[in-house]
Amino acid sequence: MGEDVQSLAKRRGFIWQSAEIYGALAGFYDYGAMGATLKRRWEDVWLDFFLDLNDNYHLIDSTTILPEASLKASGHLDSFTDPLVECNKCGSAFRADQLIENETGESAEGLSLEEMDGKLTELGLRCLKCKGGFDSARTFNMMFPVQVGTKGGDVAYLRPETAQGAYLNFKRHFEIMRRKLPLGLAIIGKAYRNEIAPRQGVYRMRELIQAELQIFMDPETFGAQLELDEMKGKEIMVQLVGSRGRSNAEPVLCEILIDAHGLPPFFVYHMYKIQEFYLEEVGIPGDKFRFFEKSEKERAFYNLLHFDIEVELSTLGGFRELAGIHYRGDYDLSRHQKHSKEKMEVSVDGKRLVPHVLELSFGVDRNVWALLDIHFSDERTGILRLPPRLAPYTFAVFPLMKKDDLVSIAKELHYMLKCRFSTLYDASGSIGKRYARMDEIGTPFCVTVDYDGLEDGTVTVRDRDSTDQKRVKKDDLDRIAFGLASGTISFKDL
Ligand code: GAP
Repeated sequence: MGEDVQSLAKRRGFIWQSAEIYGALAGFYDYGAMGATLKRRWEDVWLDFFLDLNDNYHLIDSTTILPEASLKASGHLDSFTDPLVECNKCGSAFRADQLIENETGESAEGLSLEEMDGKLTELGLRCLKCKGGFDSARTFNMMFPVQVGTKGGDVAYLRPETAQGAYLNFKRHFEIMRRKLPLGLAIIGKAYRNEIAPRQGVYRMRELIQAELQIFMDPETFGAQLELDEMKGKEIMVQLVGSRGRSNAEPVLCEILIDAHGLPPFFVYHMYKIQEFYLEEVGIPGDKFRFFEKSEKERAFYNLLHFDIEVELSTLGGFRELAGIHYRGDYDLSRHQKHSKEKMEVSVDGKRLVPHVLELSFGVDRNVWALLDIHFSDERTGILRLPPRLAPYTFAVFPLMKKDDLVSIAKELHYMLKCRFSTLYDASGSIGKRYARMDEIGTPFCVTVDYDGLEDGTVTVRDRDSTDQKRVKKDDLDRIAFGLASGTISFKDL
């Protein structure tokens, strides 16, 4: 993990290991004041963007504890596993596929347990802690069991993905929302995975947050319900299974992905929208973004089509998965129909079907970390260039010095701005230190009240990225602030 970003994350109140004073458990993290706000802003931007795709997409919430029967039906009880190898000397546990990937640089996700054993031997890999040998690889179920009620109570599990809450609630929402497809159900919340080796900071957590949108649809009519023309002539950065081995993803026209690669138009349309989200809403540079297609052997057990969404992160040493777009077919609803004996089949325009699911699945913690990684400036260390919509504070207001006449105006301006924007007031320390602190937490604009301004009714506005300052009339500040925060006025043009 990048030391600078990591120390900034701790020092400035973004994120750190949970229960540190007791030595901390691997894979559990807490958000501080800046981190919790940044996370909430990312979630808001995500919700605005993806719920906006259709009037029949809605935010719901569901429990994090699920009965065993529902996870037997979903396939997680039998198939939500990772390949575990343990050292036969010190007992340390490792993910076999990761040991192989770290050594070869190639994905080992699709290998059988026997193939992994063979590869570990062929590569001469030994325990990373004590250089001991490994026992045979075996599958390890990553769900956390919980006992509900007193002794002999029901067996249940912490949910391994938020998606199940949407499937279990589908039928009721379909009725409530007047029996239309597509129907989108989004959930943002915790999921739990007992990861074998959570060694990469927030990249592999045991308690994580997901933002997932499950789109229930008829695959035969869904394409016609979308504005497919929007993606005409547009390119998507993608690494297809067939082009593995070449180092980079290539821009591929949406039409080519449909006509030559046989992807359904509804699938490509959502890839296009996800790319738009990352490049335009979150500010990820185009050359650091790509879709990565998973082969039949690599994809999750419930998926018919599976592309990871990857962003190049210097703190994690290359392109890393932040999200996924999954076509799950009718797998989930059919399985729940079979196991629960409740009908999931619906009737729409005279056609009876078990709806198919297109899933847009995002790891919130990984996306928040990516914001810190991508926007942390190398040129002038200490600047977090977050877009104004994502920064914990959009404005900070300072009196140049703690003098009554400056303080009263600064407080008045702070009150005015904080009614509409997230705004911090700070009067302590030198003005240079206050600017530096705001740079580090990503505050795009600082407003300072000084003595010149007392004379002529002006204040200075400082731009984080250029560090330039401009003097504006105090009475214009409300209008200017709105323009700067919304991007309709650029600082340069003030
Ligand atoms: N419902 C589908 C699903 O859960 P997934 O690929 O297993 O798919 C979706 O997870 C996203 O959740 C990933 O793209 C990643 O961003 C995030 N995620 C998964 N496991 C994680 C972990 N152990 N720590 C942090 N984020 C994780």
